[in-house]
Amino acid sequence: MSFISIFIFLLSTFTLSVFPAIEGQTTSSGTYNVDNYGAKGDGQSDDSQAILRAWNAACRSAGSPTLVISSRKYLVGPLQFEGPCSNTGVFTVRVDGAILASTNLSLYEGDEWILFSHISNLKLTGSGTFDGQGEAAWPLDQCPFSSQCKVLPVSLKFAYLNNTEVEGITSLNPKFFHIALLNNNNFKVHNIKATAPKDSPNTDGIHLEGCTGVKILDSSFATGDDCVSVGQGNTDVYISNINCGPGHGISVGSLGRYAYEKDVNGLVVTGCNLTNTLNGVRIKSWQASPVTISARNITFVHIIVENVANPIIIDQKYCPFKTSCDDSEPSRVKLSDITFSNIMGTSTSPVAVNLQCSAGFPCEGIKLQNINITYIGDEGATTSACAHVNPSYSGLLVPVPCVIKS
Ligand SMILES: *[C@@H]1O[C@H](CO)[C@@H](O)[C@H](O)[C@H]1NC(C)=O
Ligand SMILES: *[C@@H]1O[C@H](CO)[C@@H](O)[C@H](O)[C@H]1NC(C)=O
Ligand SMILES: *[C@@H]1O[C@H](CO)[C@@H](O)[C@H](O)[C@H]1NC(C)=O
Ligand SMILES: *[C@@H]1O[C@H](CO)[C@@H](O)[C@H](O)[C@H]1NC(C)=O
Ligand SMILES: *[C@@H]1O[C@H](CO)[C@@H](O)[C@H](O)[C@H]1NC(C)=O
Repeated sequence: MSFISIFIFLLSTFTLSVFPAIEGQTTSSGTYNVDNYGAKGDGQSDDSQAILRAWNAACRSAGSPTLVISSRKYLVGPLQFEGPCSNTGVFTVRVDGAILASTNLSLYEGDEWILFSHISNLKLTGSGTFDGQGEAAWPLDQCPFSSQCKVLPVSLKFAYLNNTEVEGITSLNPKFFHIALLNNNNFKVHNIKATAPKDSPNTDGIHLEGCTGVKILDSSFATGDDCVSVGQGNTDVYISNINCGPGHGISVGSLGRYAYEKDVNGLVVTGCNLTNTLNGVRIKSWQASPVTISARNITFVHIIVENVANPIIIDQKYCPFKTSCDDSEPSRVKLSDITFSNIMGTSTSPVAVNLQCSAGFPCEGIKLQNINITYIGDEGATTSACAHVNPSYSGLLVPVPCVIKS
């Protein structure tokens, strides 16, 4: 580069951004706007490479860099934001525009669209939208019917991160899950929205596995599968002030499908409203588990269910594929110290409390207190059903508790 062209380059960079970032240079607390790295933001050109160039520059920055995706439309294929990065402070990714996922499925080699991995102190913020454009992919999803299915890309996957905050953003129409959290420590999600049609397959809001210290707060999910699903290997998870519906409710599981699975210990779900959902609060584990694990120390409290088919349900004979499950073997997931407290509202099916525990590993320490769930069908009251469980009860109880035969 000549002096003149360096001068013009600097000038153009300065006019485009308040805190200019120069490629190759590490600046402290710099702002890296993808528009300065060649992104078109027209919703049609593939901006993947430009966004990755800006990411790489920000990732090399030693201070508290900010990657900016401004309020335009960016079409991209798979994006892998991989650390380790050099940030010593918070690494902010601000998305104010719409990021649109390419609909060309042959671009996606992994099982995600956007991946953030091996980063510390990441903050994803902004008023932007991650639009998975899943409509065309949903008819190809065989996972609801077959265990041998090809998994479609998750919209946002966060893996091997320490100290993460995600706020403000919206996820729309993912091809598979909206958000997956895998092996993170100390992860806080708040004030987000995830939206997809009621009948879109496998569009779980947030699915988490192998995480420690997760908070999911003040968010809304309207989707085709579980709003939040707490999978294997999670410790210390707190879910509060969530609106869910349509969707399949808030669930623990499914557990006990694979041999690598680890225990779940410490979950609180509080102050959540489930409206027009298939399930309310649910724990599900597979029959014939290849591993013995436990899920314990779980509390569901201050929950409002409205127009929900299965408001309170433990299902340890979970098998969505009717043909390929071995029901001669019990689930080997041991459930204990589980409290359902202050759960109020309406059920669209008569069995409002359904506790189907494992014949081989009966539930222990199940408590129900202050439950008032009324039936909104034509006639009759809600009822309870139980197997391999002897719960303790207190306070108001509608439906009447199961009679345990001794
Ligand atoms: C989809 O992506 C593949 C792999 O990059 C490419 O070969 C193909 O031309 C793309 N198809 C369309 C319709 O753009
Ligand atoms: C996260 O913390 C763990 C445990 O302290 C450490 O082993 C790991 O390297 C950290 N990861 C990152 C991306 O900093
Ligand atoms: C749930 O509904 C109750 C009663 O309508 C309301 O007071 C509360 O704010 C709602 N919670 C959320 C998370 O919106
Ligand atoms: C139960 O879980 C909470 C976190 O939700 C944790 O603080 C507490 O130590 C756990 N108790 C036991 C006995 O593991
Ligand atoms: C239980 O809920 C029903 C329907 O919402 C309500 O009419 C009834 O008063 C409640 N029962 C108690 C004891 O609060």
